[in-house]
Amino acid sequence: MAMGRRAAAGALLVALVVLGAPPAAGAELSGVFQEMVKSECHFINGTERVRFVKRFIYNRQQYVHFDSDVGHFVGDTPYGEEVARYWNSDPEWMEHRRDAVDRHCRHNYELSTPFLVERRVPPSVSISLVPPSSSQPGPGRLLCSVMDFYPAAIQVRWFQGEQELSEHVVATDVVPNGDWTYQLLVLLETPPQRGLSYSCQVEHVSLEQPLRRHWEMPPNTARSKMLMGIGGFVLGFVFLVLGLGFSLCRKPRDGSGMGTPVSPLRVTPHWVLGAHPGSG
Ligand SMILES: *[C@@H]1O[C@H](CO)[C@@H](O)[C@H](O)[C@H]1NC(C)=O
Repeated sequence: MAMGRRAAAGALLVALVVLGAPPAAGAELSGVFQEMVKSECHFINGTERVRFVKRFIYNRQQYVHFDSDVGHFVGDTPYGEEVARYWNSDPEWMEHRRDAVDRHCRHNYELSTPFLVERRVPPSVSISLVPPSSSQPGPGRLLCSVMDFYPAAIQVRWFQGEQELSEHVVATDVVPNGDWTYQLLVLLETPPQRGLSYSCQVEHVSLEQPLRRHWEMPPNTARSKMLMGIGGFVLGFVFLVLGLGFSLCRKPRDGSGMGTPVSPLRVTPHWVLGAHPGSG
């Protein structure tokens, strides 16, 4: 009996117990009961300070857990207290639990060091202007997007010139992408002003020095549209004059106005003929 319970607890990672008829295509399940066992290793300072926590959960409720800092099972529900008493009374089983911090946590830490502890992915950083909305009219807001970095620890700061803007800055949590990278968005709440330069600075363990992206308000769009219009008009006028001049110069040759134009490609310059005296 004791052995059966032990084995079940030790081997079970995630178990789904489905009661009722086996699920035929489209059939309704009469009930789903879930037993979940989670083993956690907390590395507080490398392998120097390690904590092992094992949680036993039934239908989303944790009923008993083991914490290596405590050293024995603690019940989280009346049933869990009963289970804890039962497991705590077995010295051999408890020895095994207390060893997990070395056998499981420190062992895995050392195995995974090259690709986990030492994993470094530098962020890609960009600044964008979030367009104004009905709730936030005006020139828009500056957003610093810090994407796809690892590990999660990071510092992102906004500057105006050399002045750090620590107020009016809001950031998302560091969001896990689910592929061992993270992202973070940091918004400057005050609208950017024309003529001032802004920068977003990122410090991360993957970067040898802080990474800085700069942003300045582009020139007034109304003004640049007007300049583009004037430029287009001038260019059009130049072509008009050239075209007029060309047609006026050609016209009087045979009086008909329909004279066959001489293709410039067919004209053999004199110096070419001179170079091949026998060919004429
Ligand atoms: C982390 O552990 C190292 C030894 O590996 C020790 O020198 C250092 O002081 C510890 N750091 C902290 C913050 O406890």
